[in-house]
Amino acid sequence: MSEMEALFEYPAAARRRTITAFQAEMDAGLRGETSSLKMLPAFVDNPTGKEKGEFLALDLGGSNYRILRVSLPGDGRLPDVTSRKFSLSMEETTRDAGTLFGALARSIKSFAAGLEGAASRPLGFTFSFPIRQHSIDRGELILWTKGWSAAGVVGRDVVGLLNEALARESVGGVRVVSLDNDTTGTQMARAYLDPACDIGCILGTGTNICYRERADRIRKPLGSYAKAAMIVNMESGGFDKDLPRNRFDEKLDAESENPGAQWEEKMVSGKYLGELVRLAVAERTGQGLMFGGRLPDIFAARERFGSERVCAVKEDETPEAEKVRTILIELGVRDASSDDAAALRKIAWAVSRRAARIAAAVLAAAVTWIDPVLERDHTIAVDGSVFEKHPGFAADIDAAFRDILGPRAARVRTALTHDGSGLGAAVIAAAAGNK
Ligand code: BGC
Repeated sequence: MSEMEALFEYPAAARRRTITAFQAEMDAGLRGETSSLKMLPAFVDNPTGKEKGEFLALDLGGSNYRILRVSLPGDGRLPDVTSRKFSLSMEETTRDAGTLFGALARSIKSFAAGLEGAASRPLGFTFSFPIRQHSIDRGELILWTKGWSAAGVVGRDVVGLLNEALARESVGGVRVVSLDNDTTGTQMARAYLDPACDIGCILGTGTNICYRERADRIRKPLGSYAKAAMIVNMESGGFDKDLPRNRFDEKLDAESENPGAQWEEKMVSGKYLGELVRLAVAERTGQGLMFGGRLPDIFAARERFGSERVCAVKEDETPEAEKVRTILIELGVRDASSDDAAALRKIAWAVSRRAARIAAAVLAAAVTWIDPVLERDHTIAVDGSVFEKHPGFAADIDAAFRDILGPRAARVRTALTHDGSGLGAAVIAAAAGNK
């Protein structure tokens, strides 16, 4: 097993190299030069906390999404939120623009119909994919990630597509006034009440980071934007330099929907953690070292062993991994030995600890880019199932911060900002109205 665990090691010296490489890519991306970090201007700065009014928000992060009505008090009190969950079918996420945006418009219609006055509110749209924005209310999809592939969306303005679909569904009273990425929404939601928040991060199905940058460091067209700072969506999942890749990462990438893209995301986020575990288990079984050399069905096909199963396996703290054996039985694997169960648990920890360390390295790169000697406090608003639910993930990030930043790590705090991106979309919609 130690050879397998060694494959997922990521020592401190390697993490320091990652930080240097990440900051070089940030710099190149901000200049508009070739970089694996897109560094996309978000056309919005942190809120003042005084934004107020009533807004709708569409928070499209994955196939499960939310529509919200948000009342922003603007006086330091917590916003009031009413929300409903919806979900998209596989067909809706992979067919075409009309199918996808039609489904979204119909859910907005049904949500607004149940709430007095909602059908005439401005709407903030969180769209959790790489978008090249030209202003706060216009931006084109650059590429699909996370397995989505609806045709006719790449290169198109997603606000326009949503407005057209709303008109088709006769929801004309709802105007889309702002567009943002989920990282930006998460940062805005936390910063509304916490001025020290200058980084937003998602560690869920996908992963990404945004942060507050000085506008004069962004060498890209910013149109009529006049504020001194702006949030930048890094699309950090695309980072591809100095990462501790091994043969499983290479295999996963080669078999994915988007080979060659999103390397960091494929090592860190929930869409891929289970798959990495599966590939490692399949190799060991092929070598006759697990499951008596016969690969159980659950590990035989792509993406059947998901991140939530990795989570469940890690939760077992019994010395003989008895709970893992129970989980395996539930998954149809009846004859696993306790050695098999213990090996699976070790692989799950090795994969996810490496993920937490990579996440920490790129976050440390971002925070020391903003404030090299950490003179101020920084809150990192984080959302996503991997950060929230994986046992030990947040603690592993904190430990990695201490390794990398030493005592100055005390200046950096991660704060779970659950479902922040919907609330943040409303804060952005309010800010868009007060430009
Ligand atoms: C997308 C980002 C998004 C992240 C988290 C990535 O796959 O490219 O735009 O912020 O997932 O949802």
